[in-house]
Amino acid sequence: MSNATTQSPNTADLTERLTLKAGHCAVAGLQWGDEGKGKIVDLLTRRFDVVTRYNGGANAGHTVVVGDEKFALHLIPSGILYSGKVNVLGNGVVIDPAQLIKEIEGLRGRGIQVDGDNLKISDRAHVVFPYHKTQDVLFDQAVAQAWEAGAALGTTGRGIGPCYADKALRSTAVRVGDLLRPDRIKTQLNRAVAIKNVMLSALAKQCGVEFEPFDADEQIALAKQWGDTLAPHICDATQLLHAQMGGGRQVLFEGANATLLDIDHGTYPFVTSSNCSALGVATGSAVPAQKVTEVIGIAKAYQTRVGGGPMPTELSDATGDRIREVGREFGTTTGRPRRCGWLDLVAVKYSAMVSGATGLALMLFDVLADLDPLNVCVAYQHGDERIEHFPADASVLDQVEPVYESLPGFAGPIDTCTAYDDLPAAARGYVDFIEQFVGVPVRIISVGPRRDQTIIR
Ligand code: IMP
Repeated sequence: MSNATTQSPNTADLTERLTLKAGHCAVAGLQWGDEGKGKIVDLLTRRFDVVTRYNGGANAGHTVVVGDEKFALHLIPSGILYSGKVNVLGNGVVIDPAQLIKEIEGLRGRGIQVDGDNLKISDRAHVVFPYHKTQDVLFDQAVAQAWEAGAALGTTGRGIGPCYADKALRSTAVRVGDLLRPDRIKTQLNRAVAIKNVMLSALAKQCGVEFEPFDADEQIALAKQWGDTLAPHICDATQLLHAQMGGGRQVLFEGANATLLDIDHGTYPFVTSSNCSALGVATGSAVPAQKVTEVIGIAKAYQTRVGGGPMPTELSDATGDRIREVGREFGTTTGRPRRCGWLDLVAVKYSAMVSGATGLALMLFDVLADLDPLNVCVAYQHGDERIEHFPADASVLDQVEPVYESLPGFAGPIDTCTAYDDLPAAARGYVDFIEQFVGVPVRIISVGPRRDQTIIR
């Protein structure tokens, strides 16, 4: 398989049918991640010249199905599967070079071209080192063991939080551009490793686990090796993106994780450490917000969550199990079973507002076939108070009861429907309800994992 042949002819028809305003477009998840952004980014990529990630790191997992082939990408934008596209990891991304190099080699091994022309990495992005992953796991474990089990975040263990924390601390941070400067990185890593060893040994003691201190020389050698391998990809991505846009090329911004996991606007503290709503485009790629004319908000037809934190519509019953099985709701990154529940429209409406969604993509709609009725959450009950908006305080969200509207279910299968009118009337009723409640049109409906299992309205 090569990048050029991954594009099936009906994908061209599909994406052309979608009306998009002239300008640049962002794609952002509207729930707690795993909405199927990879499929939509992949579909839209055809219309764009550049695909840019602006946040997160290897905590994200995008699965793209092309024909019978499945690609699981964590860091590399799925635009890599097309020839002639430039894929950018922006300054807001935290890069685990070991994972990135593994992905590059995996794609090359399957005949996909990945080189300095089609994969660009911002020299301003920050680097995840092995000690960040150790810190991530030990920190969550220490919080749970020594203090309070419910306070653990249940992170992906990919070192995301510690890397962003170092970015904010500055004196222990390493940026991608530093990988190309051996003298500077020696000083930086000698300092960072010494500080980490002090901190991590104390945390390990707290958790009652063994800790082998990190060796600064080993980390320096690793950084040199990563720099040598990634050098053809490292560039000033700010200049690159502005030059591309100035030259009339269209950019698609791909958000990792999702709006309810946004560090500022999500269910804090049960969030990730970056701005994963579409608001992150500006700071995470140095592209001013007004350049983005379309934001496609991605939402599943139901709700899922991985890790800790409130989820009012969670179903701990046979319906929840059924959604998990039919929707294959197990993490791409960690393999953890996802918590499943009814669609939370209060949350989706909030996320669509924060991310500025101009259109919705409704994903995994086929999973709801043969469930009757279909409940959707339209408000929360908090004691005597009915709450119509998404609360800022995660502990309030943890205490609320969902107020449901029951909608009629529809019989399946619907995975062969290619037009809106092919859907059963009750399925169309579900879609209409969503767009009226959220106030944003549902422009894409996904009824299966393949590219051709997509309805464009
Ligand atoms: P971290 O991003 O590894 O720090 O994890 C923080 C929280 O965000 C945990 O609950 C993770 O399960 C969750 N999380 C992070 N990235 C994703 C994602 O891409 N999909 C779903 N959940 C995620």
